[in-house]
Amino acid sequence: MSKVLLVGCGHMGTALVKSWLNLKSHSFTVVDPFNHKKLKNIFKNKKIKILNKAPIQNEIKKFDLIIFAVKPQIADKVISEYKNLEFKKNSIISSIIAGKKINFFKKRLKYAKQFVRIMPNMPALIRNGVSCFVSSNNLSNINKKKINKLFLTVGKTVWLKNENQIDKATAVSGSGPGYVFALINSFEKAAQKLGFSKNQSRELVITTILGSINLMEHTKKEPYELEKLIAVKGGTTEAGLKNLKNYKIDKIIYKTYMSAYRRAKILGKKN
Ligand SMILES: NC(=O)c1ccc[n+]([C@@H]2O[C@H](COP(=O)([O-])OP(=O)(O)OC[C@H]3O[C@@H](n4cnc5c(N)ncnc54)[C@H](OP(=O)(O)O)[C@@H]3O)[C@@H](O)[C@H]2O)c1
Repeated sequence: MSKVLLVGCGHMGTALVKSWLNLKSHSFTVVDPFNHKKLKNIFKNKKIKILNKAPIQNEIKKFDLIIFAVKPQIADKVISEYKNLEFKKNSIISSIIAGKKINFFKKRLKYAKQFVRIMPNMPALIRNGVSCFVSSNNLSNINKKKINKLFLTVGKTVWLKNENQIDKATAVSGSGPGYVFALINSFEKAAQKLGFSKNQSRELVITTILGSINLMEHTKKEPYELEKLIAVKGGTTEAGLKNLKNYKIDKIIYKTYMSAYRRAKILGKKN
């Protein structure tokens, strides 16, 4: 059985652990000094150990996989709690912390050897996520398979070549659900302005979005082909779409990604 230690169990950590709890192949321990009581309540009757401080030397040696999942702003302070601990041989030290590079961990954790940076996203909570990975060159094939298998249980996995790509993936898929929810909110608010009730707006907007995604998957057509199919010349869709194009939707989306990407770079600066 693989033993996993999660350091920091906030929004993303909880989403991952909730999806993993039923795995018979793994056991989970969580460290969260300020929320351990709340977590004990959330995970009542579940097979998970919750600690209020970093494990001591004897305990840390048991873990096959360590995942740091705290905010980038406190990463330095939190990692320093682990700096003198000798990890299990062949263990994987990983992080889902936005921006923080592998080198950041290498410099601080003198006993750590194999590193993986992971960028999951929130739909992992319902096993519909996508997780991007980049590793140190010395990650063994066995360890690569192990960590890939674990994250496959919460959605799709994508291995990237370098850390720049993972900062970009942070902007696209890590933060992505946030943009999608903002867009859904805009669609719903606009539908309400047209006079639909909140419930009707939800039904119309969500069913349209889900149906469109399913149609794309079913027909295997490119989105621009389906757009053309619906936006016939002189029709209503064409009239509506003119606005999206006039407001330069492509540019807005690109700028959204670039802002998040630049932020990931800034958060990772102290490397
Ligand atoms: N949220 C997302 O959708 C998402 C997606 C992909 C990646 N990420 C990355 O995942 C990381 C965590 O994000 P999050 O949204 O889950 O943040 P979060 O909700 O703030 O979770 C971090 C948790 O770590 C706790 N913590 C503070 N000091 C600690 C310590 N010394 N040891 C262990 N735990 C400690 C925090 O407690 P307090 O809150 O009481 O300080 C909090 O419960 C971030 O680096 C983020 O970039 C997030």
